[in-house]
Amino acid sequence: LWVVDKDVDKKKGYPQLAEAARLLANNEVVAFPTETVYGLGGNAKSDEAVKRIFEAKGRPNDNPLIVHVASMEQLNEITTEISELAKTLIKKFWPGPLTLILEKKEGALPNSVTAGLRTVGVRMPDHPVALEVIRMSGVPIAAPSANTSGKPSPTTAKHVSDDLNGRIAGIVDGGSTGVGVESTVLDCTVPVPVILRPGGVTKEELEAVIGPIKEDASLKNQAVTPKSPGMKYTHYAPDAPLILIDGKQGFFQQIIEQYQAVGKKVAVMVPEEHKHDYQADYLVCSGSLANLHSIAAKLYDTLRTFNDLDVDIILAEVYPEAGIGHAIMNRLLKAAGHQLIKEE
Ligand code: TXA
Ligand code: MG
Repeated sequence: LWVVDKDVDKKKGYPQLAEAARLLANNEVVAFPTETVYGLGGNAKSDEAVKRIFEAKGRPNDNPLIVHVASMEQLNEITTEISELAKTLIKKFWPGPLTLILEKKEGALPNSVTAGLRTVGVRMPDHPVALEVIRMSGVPIAAPSANTSGKPSPTTAKHVSDDLNGRIAGIVDGGSTGVGVESTVLDCTVPVPVILRPGGVTKEELEAVIGPIKEDASLKNQAVTPKSPGMKYTHYAPDAPLILIDGKQGFFQQIIEQYQAVGKKVAVMVPEEHKHDYQADYLVCSGSLANLHSIAAKLYDTLRTFNDLDVDIILAEVYPEAGIGHAIMNRLLKAAGHQLIKEE
């Protein structure tokens, strides 16, 4: 079943969304757009629905899901002891791309949602379709990104169907998502909050509101086991190997030619500003350096593009780590399995 709704219009009502909500209330799994990426939703209170999510994605079951709410009532149903600091963040950033790790309320959710943890990740998405689907279903909705585990997250309904067609009950098509990278995951169960996954809300934006925060040590040092279970898995990978190159134009071009000399077809991922700098078999433009948000918005679509090319190796430039660039580099490093060549 396909549920298509490109234009949410209050006057017309929401027949397709009502159908999606009905399926969710019946513990089926349905994909829908959020402002970050498409989510694969299921009733967070139903062990059966949650198991269907893990099955459809092929997701390891020690990786907890984010629970999506449409109201503060729903938040209070599933969490206890929300600190003043968390309340400040909620006021400032919800609805929006910020997931807060909070203490889970005893008995409110099946263990499968949180992979047995005593905490739960919660967010209120900033997308009219997502909010309406959650509201109409009447339950909090567990939703990981709607991709096959390991693949780039989906930012269009087509990405979802390419991965999951035939494995899920429906897809609500709301066009391309806006932010393009997933929500920031922030652990609020400790005195000084810790970023477990950089995302749509930047560290700078968070610190402007609540002062200095920390980052999980694993984000800077690969040898450390991440506190967020999902961060330890390979992610976002295109079919061909991806290598990041941190160096000047001449250094980059030399690497392209080394691969070509041994008969490899090379694709290069570059920002608009540098598209005339390299000669390779394929050039894929990632967006403009003048607006890193534009690069984030199409990052996963760009990574998926390489799968349609006859290519043996993908080489990509690195991006400045400020603001949303932090999330972009986190995703690219994962997509590359941390392969990075740095000019001496
Ligand atoms: O933007 C997003 O967050 C998207 C949209 C659909 O909302 N969702 C998403 O979900 O990215 P997923 O499942 O792909 O990523 C959830 C991340 C994982 O890294 C997981 O380990 C972490 O959040 N997480 C969830 N609950 C947690 C918890 N209780 N403690 C620590 N990390 C948690
Ligand atoms: Mg994901």
